Amino acid sequence: MSRKPIIAGNWKMNLLQDEGRELFEGIKSLVSGLSESQLPEIVVAPTFTTIGVVSAAKASWGSDKIKIAGQNCHWESSGAYTGEISVEMLKDAGCDYVIIGHSERRQYFSETDEMINKKAKAILAGGLLPIICCGETLEQREAGVTDEHIASQIRAALKGLTNEEIAKSVIAYEPIWAIGTGKTCDSVEANRVIAMIRRVVKEVSSEEAGNAIRILYGGSVKPSTIEEQLSQSDIDGGLIGGASLKADSFNEIITNSMKVAV
Ligand code: PGA
Repeated sequence: MSRKPIIAGNWKMNLLQDEGRELFEGIKSLVSGLSESQLPEIVVAPTFTTIGVVSAAKASWGSDKIKIAGQNCHWESSGAYTGEISVEMLKDAGCDYVIIGHSERRQYFSETDEMINKKAKAILAGGLLPIICCGETLEQREAGVTDEHIASQIRAALKGLTNEEIAKSVIAYEPIWAIGTGKTCDSVEANRVIAMIRRVVKEVSSEEAGNAIRILYGGSVKPSTIEEQLSQSDIDGGLIGGASLKADSFNEIITNSMKVAV
């Protein structure tokens, strides 16, 4: 079955409002001349303070060819949670997706599998879609526990979700040692892990949901790597950090992704 590829830019804690708007306009200038059927699904994840200007630029353009994601959220809908943001707030600001469980949040902000599961449920209940990140450290890879670690992250994240919810969710496999290091995981190996994730998804849901869910690769994706990555059987796109911060490189990733027949 064919799954529409996703090219998602994770802007992390970068870009002020004007810079975010400019980057959005740069991506728009490429995609406005292309039809939706040619294009992958394009997602950008600005910081909370930049979502508004990107969303306003999108509204005045009047096209849905670029989707917007939050980089995190809380699972409660409102209340005394200083510094947090709810799904409803992200939706109100114009988001379609929310990235959750990014390794930087797990590592620096002590996010647990249980929290990520609560966030996934809240996101789906609130009408947005989660991009659930998973990935192993270099030590785990060297110790040979990559597959069991990833499988347990996925089982925990999807716990209690319906098959329909799982089918429309997105997973991003991001080996931590490949994030921001310039060291891309070999495409065949990334595809092997992603195919394993798909088997786990099928185990906890259904064959259909496992075939429908889109699983991205993340970790030093560049314009020169995306074609080979997307040519693999199970890699459905990329979650891109560094190379998503400049319109030139992000647009080249989009253009190169379109060379791959899906
Ligand atoms: P990178 O980041 O492309 O800079 O490696 C990817 C990510 O953390 O999502």
